Amino acid sequence: MAKAVTVKSRSTYVCGECGADHNKWQGQCGECGAWNSLSEFSVQSAARPAAARRDGWAGKVDAQRVTALKDVVQNEQSRVSTGIGEFDRVLGGGLVEGAVVLVGGDPGIGKSTLLLQAVASMASTLPGLYVTGEESLAQVAGRAVRLGLSIDGVHALAETGVERILEHASAMRPKVIVADSVQTLWTEQLSAAPGSVSQVRESAARLVRYAKETGTAVFLIGHVTKEGGIAGPRVLEHMVDAVLYFEGESGSRFRVLRAFKNRFGAVNELGVFAMGEKGLREVPNPSAIFLSGGSTPQAGSCVTVTREGTRPLLVEVQALVDSSPLSNPRRVAVGLEQNRLAMLLAVLHRHGGIGVGDQDVFVNVVGGIRLQETAADLPVLLAVLSSLRDKPLADKTVAFGEVGLSGEIRPVPNGEERLREAATHGFKRAIVPKANAPKSGSYKGLEVIAVERLVDALAAVD
Ligand code: TYD
Ligand code: MG
Repeated sequence: MAKAVTVKSRSTYVCGECGADHNKWQGQCGECGAWNSLSEFSVQSAARPAAARRDGWAGKVDAQRVTALKDVVQNEQSRVSTGIGEFDRVLGGGLVEGAVVLVGGDPGIGKSTLLLQAVASMASTLPGLYVTGEESLAQVAGRAVRLGLSIDGVHALAETGVERILEHASAMRPKVIVADSVQTLWTEQLSAAPGSVSQVRESAARLVRYAKETGTAVFLIGHVTKEGGIAGPRVLEHMVDAVLYFEGESGSRFRVLRAFKNRFGAVNELGVFAMGEKGLREVPNPSAIFLSGGSTPQAGSCVTVTREGTRPLLVEVQALVDSSPLSNPRRVAVGLEQNRLAMLLAVLHRHGGIGVGDQDVFVNVVGGIRLQETAADLPVLLAVLSSLRDKPLADKTVAFGEVGLSGEIRPVPNGEERLREAATHGFKRAIVPKANAPKSGSYKGLEVIAVERLVDALAAVD
């Protein structure tokens, strides 16, 4: 017999930035130094026998037998469409039974909207439970009505205690659960405050366990910290099957959903949405939306064809090079890796003979998209050069290619597909690595300039 559990209630103050607990309110968080970030939480701490407290993951695992892998019965992972094509694409072709998906993103980017739309569009086949710890039921329902969603079959619950959420789920048996957000969840098993790392982790772990035991798909919504990680525990990323980031620039209506980890599909797959009055709309053919749209070519701009995920995208890279008042000039990269920019500038100096040591260099990828592949190297350098010389590239020019440390331009995967995309969108000239260029020197009306070394590329835009 377990001993009786005594439940007491107390207040604790939790930092909204880092999740640290404090016993009393104070203006500045003692852990991370953020100002005015503490808010009060009332916690029920259950004093439990130590043995029960230790009863975590390991204690619950049923005795399993060792099995030959070939004898394991494979139940084909059937995928169910979420009803949103771009969302399916990022998930790897649809939602898998029992999958746990973490969806991260900045506040206000549209996470709640996306998941509400997805739950509503799945509701006819998969009954959904939308658990909200941030908004009231009236707010959730109001949004659903305003978006014109068909919400028969969607149930909502305003609750943050994991035990009660699971009680309701066991009674209702939904096939999809959305927990909005994971940072509001807490479990009675721990006395730490809601929002603290241990609470978020343990609460998520209980939902993961529930998902695996019952085959329910679970979406966890998580806020992202200033540093870009899912607030609180990074360890969440290891527990879940897929981690999706919802990104976009605040000024832009376009949003990009990116798979960062996916046990059921490819990573770096992109789904593109536009936020409008009726919520998120899919952009199934997004190729040209990340161009700035000016009609005359501008200095400091170069269009590239990136291939994030499984389809090519035309993206504009912009650079601003300006003489620096600082002894240590700035290198700022938005949408690119900062270190890569520094490396490319060094190659430009050493192998292209063009120094920007006394210049501030800012590089931005239009539309809030993030370029992670090395094919962006050459367009970055061409944009920098164009800004430095205040001379636009020829109209309708694209470029892609990896730049090596010895000044060589290296081929990138799927060259032909990239050229086709550029030709389809009316581009006239492409500056590409030699190994990616067709022998004839042109591709469907696109003049292809093959370059082997950085100096060749610089000569091509002179
Ligand atoms: P929300 O889904 O609440 O963001 P998150 O859950 O990531 O914090 O989205 C909020 C933003 O989206 C808000 O700034 C308003 C905007 N929005 C629209 O522009 N159109 C809409 O139809 C909806 C529902 C929201
Ligand atoms: Mg929200």
